[in-house]
Formats: sequence, C-alpha cells, structure tokens
Amino acid sequence: MKTYLKTLFALAGATVPFGLAAFACSSADRDEAPEHIAPAGDELIGAGRFGDFDATTDRNARRMLERGREIFRFDTFGDEQFWGGELRLHEAIAGVTPAQARDLGLKVDAGALPPRLRDQIARGQVALDDPAVTLRLLRLGAVVGVTGFFDDRGGLISIGLQCAFCHSTVNDSVAQGVGERLDGWANRDLNVGAIIASAPNLQPFVALLRAVDRDITEADVRNVLLSWGPGKFDAELILDGKAFRPDGTSAATLIPNAFDMAGFNEHTWTGNWGSVPYWNAFVAVNEMHGRGNFFDPRLNDRVKYPVAAAARLWDVKVAPEEDLVTSKLPALHFYQLALPSPRPVAGVDFDERAAARGHDLFTGQARCTRCHHEPLLTDAGWNLHTPEEMRIDAFQANRAPGGSYKTMNLTGLFIRERGLFMRPGNKGRYYHDGRFATLLDVVRDYNERFRLGLAPPQKLDLVEYLKSL
Ligand code: HEC
Ligand code: HEC
Repeated sequence: MKTYLKTLFALAGATVPFGLAAFACSSADRDEAPEHIAPAGDELIGAGRFGDFDATTDRNARRMLERGREIFRFDTFGDEQFWGGELRLHEAIAGVTPAQARDLGLKVDAGALPPRLRDQIARGQVALDDPAVTLRLLRLGAVVGVTGFFDDRGGLISIGLQCAFCHSTVNDSVAQGVGERLDGWANRDLNVGAIIASAPNLQPFVALLRAVDRDITEADVRNVLLSWGPGKFDAELILDGKAFRPDGTSAATLIPNAFDMAGFNEHTWTGNWGSVPYWNAFVAVNEMHGRGNFFDPRLNDRVKYPVAAAARLWDVKVAPEEDLVTSKLPALHFYQLALPSPRPVAGVDFDERAAARGHDLFTGQARCTRCHHEPLLTDAGWNLHTPEEMRIDAFQANRAPGGSYKTMNLTGLFIRERGLFMRPGNKGRYYHDGRFATLLDVVRDYNERFRLGLAPPQKLDLVEYLKSL
C-alpha cells in the first residue's frame, strides 16, 4: 500500500509542467503518507503485531500536521496551468512594483527573506517602485500564497496560487505587510478581484459565464472582478453566474477566517455544501483550478447552477496519476482543524468587567446562545438557520444547496474590530457581505431584529464580550 502511494506521489510530481520540481511539487509530496495500520489477518494476531499503537497515533498526528501545513502554504495543486498557463497572470505580476503589490494586499513572509534583505525592508531601503524587487521576492518564495515559476534565465514563466493566498496574513513584524505567517487568518487587504482582473486573458471566465449571458465580454468580467474590493471573493459566481445582488451591489462575500474550525459540521457562510474536506476539494479543483477529482451531483442543476451544470463542474475527473488534490485532503483537513484562533488580552483588546456583564447578556437577555452555543460559538449539531429565522434577506443563502446561513463561530473578532495587521479602511465588516461596519452595528441590528430591549450601555457591554472571544 505504501509503495503504491509513493508511486502515486512520484507520478503526481512528474506531471507538473516546466519541470521545476523544487517549487512546483511541494515537499509535502515527498513526505511519507500517514501510517496505516495493517488490516487484521490470522498471522497478525499476537503480541507486538501492531507495535505501540498510541505511539503510532502520535507520530501520525505530527506527520499529518506538518504535511498539512506544507500543503496549505505551498501547494498549488497544479493550478499554475490555469493562472499562468491560461490567464497569463504572471505577465501582469511581472510588471507590478512592491508598492502596488502591497496595495493589492499581497503579504511577504519574513521567514523566507535573507537577513540582509529583511533589514533593508525594515529600514525602508528597498525600492518600492521597482518590479525587479517583486520578482526577487517571488523567486525567494516569499510572497504568501503565490508561487512563481522561472526559466533558466530568471524570467517569470508562470504563477500558481495556494490556500494561503486568501487564508493567511502576516504579523507586520518587519514592515507593513511583511512579517511572520499567520495561517488561517483571512487576508482582509487582499484584492483578489483586482489581481485576477489584471490578467491579460479572461476568456476562460467569459466561456464559463456564457451559460448565463451569451453576449458577455472580457470587459464585463473585468467589471465584475473589480466590483469585489479588498478581503472579498465570490466562490459561487462560477456556479450560478450571479455577479450582483438585487440592489446592484457586489455578490462577493468576505473571506472568512480558516481557524478554530474543529467540532462543528457545516462550513462556509451559507453552510450545507458540506464540512471542511468537501469545501477543500471543491476549492482546490473548481476555484483554484488545480488538477483533481471532484463530484457533487447537486451542482448538476441547470436552473440553480447554470454555469456549473454547463461546464460539468459537478463531475470533474482526472486519471489517478494526474490527481494532485485528492491525496492531500486528509492532511489539509487535519492541519486546518489544528489552527487555533488568536486570544485577546484583557485590558488591551477588551474591558474585562464590561465583558463579564456582556457575557450575562449573551447567554441571557440577548439570547445569543440560542444559536452561538458556548464554547463552540456555532450550533452544536445542525449549525444552519434560514433567512426567516435570521430575519435577513435570502440572497446569499439561496445560492447554496440548503438555503440557509451558517452560525458563524465568533472567535478572534477583536482582530477585525481593532483592525490588527490590516489597512484601517479594511477593518470591521461583519456578516457574509460585510454589511455591518462595527460590532456595535451588529448588536444594534440584533436588538432591533429580535426586539431584545437592550439599553445603550448593555449594547456596549455585549460588544466587549464579543471582543473577548
Ligand atoms: C481566492 C480566495 C480563496 C482561496 C485561494 C481559498 N479560499 Fe477558502 N474561502 C474563501 C471564501 C471567499 C470563502 C467563503 C465562501 C462562501 O461562504 O461562499 C472561503 C471559505 C473557506 C472555508 C470555510 C470557512 C468557514 O468559516 O466555514 C474553508 C475551510 C476554506 N475556505 C478552506 C480553503 C482551503 C483549504 C483552500 C485551499 C485549497 C482555500 N480555502 C482557498 C476564499 C478563498
Ligand atoms: C438564530 C440564530 C442566531 C442568533 C440568535 C444569533 N446569531 Fe449571530 N449569527 C448567526 C448567523 C447565521 C450568522 C452568520 C450571518 C451571515 O452569514 O451573514 C451570525 C453572525 C454573527 C456575527 C458576525 C460574525 C462574522 O464573522 O462576521 C456576530 C458578531 C454575531 N452573529 C453575534 C451575535 C450576537 C451578539 C447575538 C445575540 C444578540 C447573536 N449573534 C444571535 C446566527 C445567530
């Protein structure tokens, strides 16, 4: 079994284009697969056959975590065939200055920088108007979530994206946008739409969206992408072709955090797609355009998902030896479940006494624990609620199979409220579309929607409690 798996990994690595194995094939591929305990057979019964089972389990956990981290940070799943090969995004990136890259929300991993360069950046001695610096950062593998592929003469010939592109940021320890990686933290500055819109060729999106609009042009696609803004992405666009809400604003949603996800069932804002490993497979294959298998017959629905049905996104098949996704799902899942949420500090991030009063309101008068069960802060069990229950519009809920909203878990809210490691203009923003600017706005709205009768000081106490989670 192990030999078979190893052969698969070797083959998978070999299919990556440009032959740049060092970058293209993440070292995760070369790691050993999780240890499998042999199935019981007659000769297996007896002392020692299974060795020290607990020690094997511990080793397995460590291995899965390390492999998962590697995949989350560095694996492109072969998606450079799309971003570089089809969209030619690298041609646009090659001309981007470091200042422009920063403004697009791209982050730099200080851990990948040689000490001299790190010092120069800290002292502001790096030319922010020179695209050659951007290329150097790419060559160092220092741009979070982006892998550059280079030819022998140092020319950028393709580009691939990783999960970390959207779901990691840095702690600004060296300079704004330059620091240690924070995996799972949504990159609230990242302007995904503007980055994709800069690609010379958007025909692949035109071809997809023709299913809903025969006359669509590249300029239309570009307008849609530019309507998203920082910290947002529209994962359902390539399924239902809906680019705007009925009121004409963008249909994109906020990029959620991908930490603190253990212990509950449904994920994504609207839930009911499935749990984390479902979404991981869907995103790697259909959003990032990696090479892998994906199956979900619910998307074969010409009314609800005209784009997905026409392009057969519900049944993507590649040969096992070409599949760069499926073998990575277990470790990727494991790593994500291990990612902790950041912990706020009393007296710095929140007021302790006010938060204690707020807690009484959260579980009492404000009835928040009807859905945000402590300490999960989402419902234990079926963590979805209809728009009627939520007393909000159904637009986004209806784009998902269940027609519901997932009770978002509430840890780490203080980061967004304080605007840590993000540009001031991108802080706050709550609910799937970011409709509430601050936590006080959220609480005020709950107070009206559910007639909670909270007095102004009580609302402030509840906000302090939310910041303490
Ligand atoms: C281009 C940006 C982008 C990339 C790249 C990306 N995601 Fe996401 N991710 C999102 C957005 C936006 C959502 C919310 C989607 C929704 O609710 O419709 C999301 C949701 C999620 C969720 C659910 C979180 C929650 O709160 O329930 C998980 C888990 C996740 N992504 C994992 C991944 C993994 C693993 C990868 C790499 C295979 C990845 N994502 C790549 C943007 C991205
Ligand atoms: C009926 C179930 C329900 C109740 C009751 C409820 N919530 Fe929520 N909560 C949700 C759902 C569902 C979401 C996600 C909404 C969305 O997708 O936009 C959410 C989202 C939030 C968010 C935004 C999270 C984010 O990342 O943007 C905050 C903050 C919040 N709730 C706080 C509260 C507070 C405070 C109360 C009590 C006053 C409360 N909730 C009561 C279901 C509920």
